[in-house]
Amino acid sequence: MAENVVTETNFETLKLFNRGKVRDIYDLGDRLLIITTDRISAFDVILPNGIPFKGKVLNQISMYWFKVMEDITANHIITCDVDEFPESCRPYADILKGRSIIVKKAEPLPVECVVRGYIAGSMWKEYKEKGGQNGEGSTVNVCGVDLPTGLKESGKLGKTFFTPATKAEQGDHDMNISFEKSVEILGNEIAEQAKDTSVKIYEKAVGIAEKKGIIIADTKFEFGFINGNLTLIDEICSPDSSRFWPSSEYAEGKSQPSCFDKQFVRDYLLTLDWDKTHPGPELPENIITQTSDKYLQAFEILTGRDRKELE
Ligand SMILES: Nc1ncnc2c1ncn2[C@@H]1O[C@H](COP(=O)(O)OP(=O)(O)O)[C@@H](O)[C@H]1O
Ligand SMILES: [Mg+2]
Repeated sequence: MAENVVTETNFETLKLFNRGKVRDIYDLGDRLLIITTDRISAFDVILPNGIPFKGKVLNQISMYWFKVMEDITANHIITCDVDEFPESCRPYADILKGRSIIVKKAEPLPVECVVRGYIAGSMWKEYKEKGGQNGEGSTVNVCGVDLPTGLKESGKLGKTFFTPATKAEQGDHDMNISFEKSVEILGNEIAEQAKDTSVKIYEKAVGIAEKKGIIIADTKFEFGFINGNLTLIDEICSPDSSRFWPSSEYAEGKSQPSCFDKQFVRDYLLTLDWDKTHPGPELPENIITQTSDKYLQAFEILTGRDRKELE
């Protein structure tokens, strides 16, 4: 599959709102045009190569979930159909197609809503550091929640934990905070609502993905206010915002294979002598192709659609 890789847009007749690690965002007044590019970041550094189809995959997986979650939460989507985009976007239709959305502009909450059903990533790291896996006592406090001691790496937590984080400034890691801290930042009502909705969305997604052979170990949501209503924004349960594991290979007590996401790229980068600061190294062709294939597999499995539809 040949694909036109888009790593950056420069739409001169539109007003740039923000360039994130992955998305280019243009200001259309009370709306935004969000383009999911093929950029890939690892260790918070944007790498020089794009990954074919990554932007379309992320965008369309999110669109799939937004629809599925409509009974649980309002979302920011207006349309993903380029034919319905405002006239001002039309000149760029070829680049926009499949990878972009028009959304309602929100005032994002300064807290990232992380939910976890398995112990991995920063939670496992902190748990290990605090001696949780062989710990004394019955519980250990990690990411602001109390976990029983004796859990194994990638182990199932048995319930969904809400472990919020504050959004980092560019180049920094997000910082885990306790629920109480999120209440201080957001106020009790909004913090409770964000937590409740996050847990509901996560649990519904887990149930659906499980039937398709994917474990969603953890994920991150963003909410914002639109006309005073708490609304789900950004992306939802994509390979970039979640940890997806193949159910068939799941076993606790070890890290899980990176079948659907950029962990594969991180693993490759760790074999290099690179200090994880800008600029990132060029990726070899075979790493790019295999990474693209992992994203496409996630798309096919979750949405039930064929990758040819993305061409
Ligand atoms: N409806 C919206 N209104 C305002 N901001 C939004 C909306 N949806 C997403 N965003 C913001 O757009 C950015 C998405 O770009 P991305 O490249 O994913 O950024 P990041 O590097 O922060 O992950 C995020 O900062 C997110 O908060
Ligand atoms: Mg993001």
